[in-house]
Amino acid sequence: MKIAVLASGSGSNLQVLIDQLHRDTTCDIEISVVISDKRTAYALTRARQANIPIHVVKLRDFPNRNAFDAEISRGIDEYEAELIVLAGFMKVLQPQFVQKYRNRIVNIHPSLLPAFPGAHPLRDALAYGVKVSGATIHFVDEGLDTGPIIAQVSVPVYDSDNEESLHARIQIEEYKIYPQVVKLCAEGKLEISGRKVTVKET
Ligand code: GRF
Repeated sequence: MKIAVLASGSGSNLQVLIDQLHRDTTCDIEISVVISDKRTAYALTRARQANIPIHVVKLRDFPNRNAFDAEISRGIDEYEAELIVLAGFMKVLQPQFVQKYRNRIVNIHPSLLPAFPGAHPLRDALAYGVKVSGATIHFVDEGLDTGPIIAQVSVPVYDSDNEESLHARIQIEEYKIYPQVVKLCAEGKLEISGRKVTVKET
């Protein structure tokens, strides 16, 4: 199956997907395009190094969010991607886009949702004083980090933590879990019933 990865930043999750899925000849997953809203995103360098086509879509080149999303959609369809994997993509996709690809968009968020959705989950979790945080992988719906949860992993929060140290601890877990979930999703092994996501029995 061909998948599109959308990333705005360093792309360390993208790298893990490249190494564990795209380069694994025993698994039928190809990252057919990496799409970014930032020309300077290191994720694009990682894609180029792996010979994966890139598509840059900058918000300021479009009159509104739907036109921006439509260009992203054009890239996805041009590269025949059937699954859209958000890996640090920092723009919120609009309802029209979400409806077009319903249940075919997954995201990874560095908090235990529904706690701390939005753009500053690490800062918010530390400010709240939680003792446990983690990462959530979910399907994307029309809300902000509200879609059905596929998987979660927890990490301890220490008194000495700052955003960087907590993020580093969470990312270690993200790298283990995201490729596994993307693989299950690409292989059609996930079942969604309302908010409940389960792995199909084989
Ligand atoms: C990850 O921590 C992910 O949870 C969040 O953005 C970060 C992306 O990091 N959505 P990277 O670009 O994969 O290094």
